[in-house]
Amino acid sequence: MKFLSRALVVVCATFFGSVVGDAAASTFSPARPPAIPLAVKSPYLSTWLYAGSDGGNGGYLAGQWSQFWAGQVAAWTGMIRVDGTTYTWMGAPTGPALVTQKSFEYTSTKSVFTMDVGGLVEMNITFLSTLTPDDQKRQSLIFSYLDVGVQSLDGNSHDVQLYTDISAEWVSGDHSAVAQWDQGTTRDGISYHKVYRQTQLLFSETADQADWGYWYYATKKVHGLSFQSGSDSTVRGNFQSNGNLTNTKDVDYRAINAQYPVFGFAHDLGKISGSVSTLYTIGLAQEQAIQFDGASGVVPLTSLWTSQFSSETDAMKLSFVYNDFNTASKTAAALDSKISSESIGAGGQDYLTITSLAARQAFGALQLVGNSTKQYLFLKEISSDGNVQTVDVIFPFHPILLYLKPELLKLLLDPLFENQESGQYPNTYSMHDLGGSYPNATGHTDGNDEKQPLEECGNMLIMTLAYSQRAQDKAYLTQHYNILKQWTQYLIAEALIPADQISTDDFAGSLSNQTNLALKGIIGIEAMAVIANLTGNTADSSNYTSIAHDYISKWQDYGIAHDAVPPHTTLGYGLNDTHGLLYNLYSDQELGLKLVPQAVYDMQSAFYPTVALPYGVPLDTRHNYTKSDWEMFTAAIAGDETKELLIKALAAFIGATTTSVPETDLYSAATGGWPGEGAGSFKARPVIGGHFALLALEAQVEAGIHN
Ligand SMILES: *[C@@H]1O[C@H](CO)[C@@H](O)[C@H](O)[C@H]1NC(C)=O
Ligand SMILES: *[C@@H]1O[C@H](CO)[C@@H](O)[C@H](O)[C@H]1NC(C)=O
Ligand SMILES: *[C@@H]1O[C@H](CO)[C@@H](O)[C@H](O)[C@H]1NC(C)=O
Ligand SMILES: *[C@@H]1O[C@H](CO)[C@@H](O)[C@H](O)[C@H]1NC(C)=O
Ligand SMILES: *[C@@H]1O[C@H](CO)[C@@H](O)[C@H](O)[C@H]1NC(C)=O
Ligand SMILES: *[C@@H]1O[C@H](CO)[C@@H](O)[C@H](O)[C@H]1NC(C)=O
Ligand SMILES: *[C@@H]1O[C@H](CO)[C@@H](O)[C@H](O)[C@H]1NC(C)=O
Ligand SMILES: *[C@@H]1O[C@H](CO)[C@@H](O)[C@H](O)[C@H]1NC(C)=O
Ligand SMILES: *[C@@H]1O[C@H](CO)[C@@H](O)[C@H](O)[C@H]1NC(C)=O
Repeated sequence: MKFLSRALVVVCATFFGSVVGDAAASTFSPARPPAIPLAVKSPYLSTWLYAGSDGGNGGYLAGQWSQFWAGQVAAWTGMIRVDGTTYTWMGAPTGPALVTQKSFEYTSTKSVFTMDVGGLVEMNITFLSTLTPDDQKRQSLIFSYLDVGVQSLDGNSHDVQLYTDISAEWVSGDHSAVAQWDQGTTRDGISYHKVYRQTQLLFSETADQADWGYWYYATKKVHGLSFQSGSDSTVRGNFQSNGNLTNTKDVDYRAINAQYPVFGFAHDLGKISGSVSTLYTIGLAQEQAIQFDGASGVVPLTSLWTSQFSSETDAMKLSFVYNDFNTASKTAAALDSKISSESIGAGGQDYLTITSLAARQAFGALQLVGNSTKQYLFLKEISSDGNVQTVDVIFPFHPILLYLKPELLKLLLDPLFENQESGQYPNTYSMHDLGGSYPNATGHTDGNDEKQPLEECGNMLIMTLAYSQRAQDKAYLTQHYNILKQWTQYLIAEALIPADQISTDDFAGSLSNQTNLALKGIIGIEAMAVIANLTGNTADSSNYTSIAHDYISKWQDYGIAHDAVPPHTTLGYGLNDTHGLLYNLYSDQELGLKLVPQAVYDMQSAFYPTVALPYGVPLDTRHNYTKSDWEMFTAAIAGDETKELLIKALAAFIGATTTSVPETDLYSAATGGWPGEGAGSFKARPVIGGHFALLALEAQVEAGIHN
């Protein structure tokens, strides 16, 4: 409640600022997203600038507090003094006028703002959150960079001091919890604030923020650096009046919301005539990361970096990360450029608008854990319910891994196999998730997880084969053959005539004979025919493939409204005036199965434009909303015109939506806003890894799967 009233004050201040201040508008390239990623690297390091009009300020870094993905403020402040006058460049501290934002630009790894400070100096502010699919050590470090460049704008030299702080709001979602902190310098000269919840609650969350672990805000100890911890008004006030801090530590450890303690750095940059840049890192260190019910029962798993940094762990890690910025920037630039050129090749600039916004959000749900002999990748079903390793969230997410690093998909599937193969799950079909509340992957020994049996059996078979094809890993298929066969038996019994059940789109309701769900099951059976073939089980293979072909021909009778104009598949068998996105058809192509006749692809591709709304094709006839992940699955296998229509519509949504949260995958295809009651809870979900569906198919061509 307290935080809400604070946020409200901030929004008002922002409004005034933009009305009475310099009204020059910023440019936004390639679009002004609903929320701008600032530091987004894991489920717990996920700080954004809400931008859409429905709760955000339009994408201006100064004048509004940054927020954790779930909405609570994670205050991050930036001020600058130029020739004695103080301005705010980030957040909403009381007092200074705001800098003028000239431009904002995002890439897959960076958010970059350019600011004009009183016509005197220019600032380039870069938030870099790396994705390093090829480098597990770096991927496992939960850190993000803030790089601030300042240079004279008018050719004169100016006296400049730079300020930034974070508040203790970063360390727990319970703002009445007591925070503790410290200040130090590593042996190689990295000055840091360490902030944490005084009572560490291992594996526990409040409002989705972690209640354990140690936060670090760090910069290099250079001449002119000063630091201070203390109440927001004291520390920020000192900078505003003196241009520096006191090099003192407040030791009155107290509640996060009691005279909000903040942790500041000030840099006296002196007289600037050229350009100077200052680097900060923000990050979270949790030694213990996940509880996992694996082959030997429930065990705690450590963050993977613990096996890389043996002694003085946190200090060494901090130095490593800070000094790694040049490498991190180069690796990030290479990834940005790969995603950029390949997205443009696959779907044009609009497609790049979509993929480059999705990359950090998708990877931001992941955490690499384990040790040097055994690694696991865990995924949080962010916002929709916080489950761990949800199979039907990994499925829409998985194209980004097929595209960037199929081996990471294996690390996501491994814990699901390990739990079920060791007999910890009683049902014969695949489990829905590995635990109701991240980070507790403690399984469902009672078998009472959310029931999506057909969906999850299909998903596991499809993703296992997809991984093994791209990684050329047949041994993985042999290793898991028995349980894959068990799930196939389920599909043979249940896929053609699906019982009344929910699909992954559970919010849309339950229904029997869902055409799209049946298709997933049938493709799953054919995937098993290929798996059986690859593992030398040729009798199984010919049996399964003949079943799959028999089913797919019946499915075309049951699930297609042949007499409709134009003809199309239905939402449910025989419901001729219904329709929906047939996104599960994607996997036929993803796996190179050629199970479904080309005529079905062509029919669907011709049909979608006839029911399109301004921001996309509705998910199905029950509602006007759509799902961005399924739209990109559908686009990936559509003819050129339909592909272009779907991509254009989603890119238009990104730039026009009034939603202000980290991109929602569920939205009204009619208005581009929230779809209606109860659906506003979809935000920051990893499923938008599915926006890479087109690129995952291109990668398959390279791997020779299509030939
Ligand atoms: C900011 O970026 C622009 C354009 O990339 C560049 O010309 C300028 O030198 C940069 N300024 C600073 C302070 O780094
Ligand atoms: C995870 O389990 C622990 C007990 O082992 C519990 O204290 C904690 O609250 C649980 N976390 C969540 C997010 O439910
Ligand atoms: C901060 O600036 C004030 C005013 O110039 C000065 O008196 C003080 O010594 C400075 N403090 C530090 C820690 O540099
Ligand atoms: C590494 O992790 C695996 C799986 O959790 C565990 O069985 C093994 O004991 C660990 N090895 C070491 C050296 O800690
Ligand atoms: C499901 O479809 C099959 C095949 O068309 C049909 O026989 C059956 O009655 C349908 N079930 C329901 C509940 O509509
Ligand atoms: C299995 O392999 C045989 C021989 O290569 C091939 O003819 C057949 O099409 C394959 N079946 C499937 C389902 O991949
Ligand atoms: C094919 O698979 C089905 C379903 O598992 C099974 O009932 C049948 O006996 C199998 N047929 C052959 C020839 O193996
Ligand atoms: C739906 O269309 C099919 C032909 O595509 C037709 O055989 C069937 O009777 C129709 N069902 C209903 C309920 O109208
Ligand atoms: C979808 O929007 C159209 C046009 O606004 C409206 O006529 C229709 O009733 C809506 N359909 C649903 C299912 O909400």
